Amino acid sequence: MSKQLLKLDKLTKKFGGLTAVENFSMTLEEGELLGLIGPNGAGKTTTFNLISGNLAVTSGNIVYKDDDITDLRPDQIADIGIARTFQNIRLMTGMTVLENMQLAFHIWNDYNILDTIFRTNRFLGKEDQYLKEIDETLKHFNISQYKDEKVDDLPPGIQRKADIARAILLKPNLILLDEPTAGMNPSETDELVNIIKWINKDLNISTILVEHDMRVIMNICPRIIVMEQGDIIAEGNPEHVQSNQKVIEAYLGKSYQI
Ligand SMILES: Nc1ncnc2c1ncn2[C@@H]1O[C@H](COP(=O)(O)OP(=O)(O)O)[C@@H](O)[C@H]1O
Ligand SMILES: [Mg+2]
Repeated sequence: MSKQLLKLDKLTKKFGGLTAVENFSMTLEEGELLGLIGPNGAGKTTTFNLISGNLAVTSGNIVYKDDDITDLRPDQIADIGIARTFQNIRLMTGMTVLENMQLAFHIWNDYNILDTIFRTNRFLGKEDQYLKEIDETLKHFNISQYKDEKVDDLPPGIQRKADIARAILLKPNLILLDEPTAGMNPSETDELVNIIKWINKDLNISTILVEHDMRVIMNICPRIIVMEQGDIIAEGNPEHVQSNQKVIEAYLGKSYQI
């Protein structure tokens, strides 16, 4: 039987008078690749910010495995195995792709930034292993050739891939991807579809994918949740969601006829 990994229970986020997420409840099973879609302003990014601890919850609960994680800080959320990417890429500017990847290892491992600076034995013992993991990951993302380039100088599609690679190097159990194909050209988007499948199936990382490109969502997500104004308006497999009248209205306006 499949096991519940994440549960949102009546999650609510208010910004002053505006309710961005309202009594939003859902569960994610271990190993799932769940699509989360909805028109602009539906509350998708806010939901990710609540899960990742980047925003404080107004009411409701977030349960991960068997623990209530509602009030944890972002670093604590990362420590328990939840990684995310941001709609606006957050790589360290001024640093190379490789240096950005190396930063990932500070978060989950017992070697810290001082080890890197002073090059202690502890660091040297592990450096080879980390570099190997980084090399393999960059290869999977087809960005090895950019390893020594400053991230600022790279096209947006490559930066996106590097950002996702960094999140993967955290070795999460769950990854939250916020519009990963934004800024990508069609061939990069096709590549990313395969990368997301690889992340979910081969690396066995449960995934929630927020994505505006419906081809991507419908192609790879067995289950999709549709949000509008902070809550679910439809849920199911791609066929079900695509033929749902509320979804069609939310995306295309009420005058639309099938
Ligand atoms: N930090 C914030 N302060 C105030 N309002 C916000 C903030 N973040 C998001 N919102 C508002 O919350 C609503 C949901 O936004 P968001 O979660 O970004 O939607 P989505 O990602 O689905 O496009 C929008 O009306 C947005 O303007
Ligand atoms: Mg968003």
